[in-house]
Amino acid sequence: MPPIELAPSVLAADFGRLREQVELVRGAGASVVHVDVMDGHFVPPLSMGPPICEALRGCGLHVEAHLMVERPERGQIEAFARAGAETIVVHAEATPHVHYALQAIRAAGCLAGLAVNPATGLDVFAEVDVDLALVMSVNPGWGGQAFIDSSPARIARLRDLLGPDVPIEVDGGVDARTAGPCAAAGATRLVAGTAIFRAPDPARAAIEILGAAREGAAALAHSTSG
Ligand code: DX5
Ligand code: ZN
Repeated sequence: MPPIELAPSVLAADFGRLREQVELVRGAGASVVHVDVMDGHFVPPLSMGPPICEALRGCGLHVEAHLMVERPERGQIEAFARAGAETIVVHAEATPHVHYALQAIRAAGCLAGLAVNPATGLDVFAEVDVDLALVMSVNPGWGGQAFIDSSPARIARLRDLLGPDVPIEVDGGVDARTAGPCAAAGATRLVAGTAIFRAPDPARAAIEILGAAREGAAALAHSTSG
């Protein structure tokens, strides 16, 4: 199984102190920084664009762009790759050309991720090769929503479908309470925004989420060994 990774979402960060906040979570053990891109169409809000990835270049964390964007294959993939995104995640619901979009991500030199909304079937993952599979545990568009409790069961089904090697990411409402069940179901990359950056002590919150996820992963390893 891939290692457990914590991916703080800067959507909930203080943008006036972006690098400082990222440095803080890096010190607490985060290895990925998650950039939530919203286009006002696929999801109602507008959030951020390639300049935020530019600002994160060289920050010491793997930069991941989560494109909640319609038809990302029409130029946005290349724009985020040029801005320094290292993994680009597109939504299965956002284009009829999922296979093409994943190819375009790899052609741009990035790792290719595919996300599914809570009501989307997992069968698309049987049809394409991905470097990362993202299970949304809230409906995309806003930070700070409540975790959908059926998400770990979906993660477990996806883990069965994908086998042990592909990283599975979970995004939305992840905190020290929900991280464990997600990791125990087979998630390996945990996104958290509000639970980290709106906590009184973000570094401590990150350490607690990572600890809970590692415990969940250990329980999974134990249950599948022998
Ligand atoms: C939801 C975004 C998430 C979200 C995570 O549209 O994709 O990354 O901001 O934030 P929290 O952890 O606040 O649910
Ligand atoms: Zn996200």
